[in-house]
Amino acid sequence: MSFAELWESLLPVGRDASSGYRRYSWTPPDLVCRDWFTAAAAARGLRTECDRNGNLWAWWPVPGPGPVPGSGPGPFPAGAIVTGSHLDSVPDGGAFDGPLGIISALAAIDLLRDRGFVPARPIAVAAFTEEEGARFGVACLGSRLATGAIEPDTARDLRDGGGVSLGDAMTGAGLDPADLGPDDDRLAGLAAYVELHIEQGSALAGLDAPVGIAEGIWPHGRWQLEFTGRADHAGTTRIADRRDPMLPYAAAVLAAREAAAGRGGLATFGKVIAEPGGANAICSAVRAWLDARAPGETALGRIVDDVSAAAQAAALDQQVGFSLRRESFSPAVSFDSGLRDRIAVVLAAAAGPVPVLPTGAGHDAGVLAARVPTAMLFVRNPSGVSHSPAEHAEPADCEAGVEALAAVLADLAGS
Ligand code: GLV
Ligand code: MN
Ligand code: MN
Repeated sequence: MSFAELWESLLPVGRDASSGYRRYSWTPPDLVCRDWFTAAAAARGLRTECDRNGNLWAWWPVPGPGPVPGSGPGPFPAGAIVTGSHLDSVPDGGAFDGPLGIISALAAIDLLRDRGFVPARPIAVAAFTEEEGARFGVACLGSRLATGAIEPDTARDLRDGGGVSLGDAMTGAGLDPADLGPDDDRLAGLAAYVELHIEQGSALAGLDAPVGIAEGIWPHGRWQLEFTGRADHAGTTRIADRRDPMLPYAAAVLAAREAAAGRGGLATFGKVIAEPGGANAICSAVRAWLDARAPGETALGRIVDDVSAAAQAAALDQQVGFSLRRESFSPAVSFDSGLRDRIAVVLAAAAGPVPVLPTGAGHDAGVLAARVPTAMLFVRNPSGVSHSPAEHAEPADCEAGVEALAAVLADLAGS
């Protein structure tokens, strides 16, 4: 099956006809994506196993005797090379963020096989669960659990917008949430993880390059702000009598823009819930989520402090309660320089020098980097738009990405 056929086969899953993708973890569209992954792997003779945290791994073992992961208890093979990404999406996401890395991985395996490549090390394609944190609030949840970056008890009790816990959602999908937790033996067997991803910016377009290599990821996180006021009538409550939580929230939004601009970072309120949400009533509460990112942790901390201080002051002024809680945090990541340089040499030999770029976007590769030599390839995104249905990469650039990934896998798994 060609890249285009694989791509087409996943395209309808979880797509809202009028907008983008809504593939939230452990919901029906996500379960269809997971079945699609298992079937696409099986069509290539790859055995898929689901790890204790709900991440899927499709294995291409080395020929001959040796442990085949997922075929029963026993040690994981040493020195495995892993590639992959995620299948879940943000609300109204694009088709590429996540799936491009998985489809490119499968297509790269097809290419290697067509060329008669025989791996000297096992290769796996991984699909990490809840990378976007769109349902349970913590991004890269599957890789965080595997690396021990989040406590299993905390993860089990994360709730979606409807109050369903991660534990219950996993139970509903036939998994046992009691198994959640660090996957040290598995991680110890991995020699490298290389994730291919659509670029979530337009640097490659500016450089006229179809493929790039990641240098590192900005530190970033999510904070939940809660403003509690007093519900009342919009048409009769005098200005002086109001305790309106919308006002300090508005102050926080403006402070976020100013703090980000002043400190060289980015800050976004992309999700807000006004309770109870009547058009003719003052809200009783406003809950909002701040996403903040910066080139360094000091600047990031200052942005969050600035927003918090502005929100606190405005809340006091309006006699509104205010609290701020960190929901998730990802420290700065600098990808393994040895692996990055090796990949740069491989790609330069195949197609000429490849740019190396930093990014403000988070990835499972960034979480795994704490435990495994990790690298990322980016595929050009002409407009740079991402987390939107308008996200796009040209087919020729996707093919260039598959070629690049195949060259990297051949190099890493060939000896
Ligand atoms: C994931 O795509 C993120 O950067 O939030
Ligand atoms: Mn994303
Ligand atoms: Mn992604």
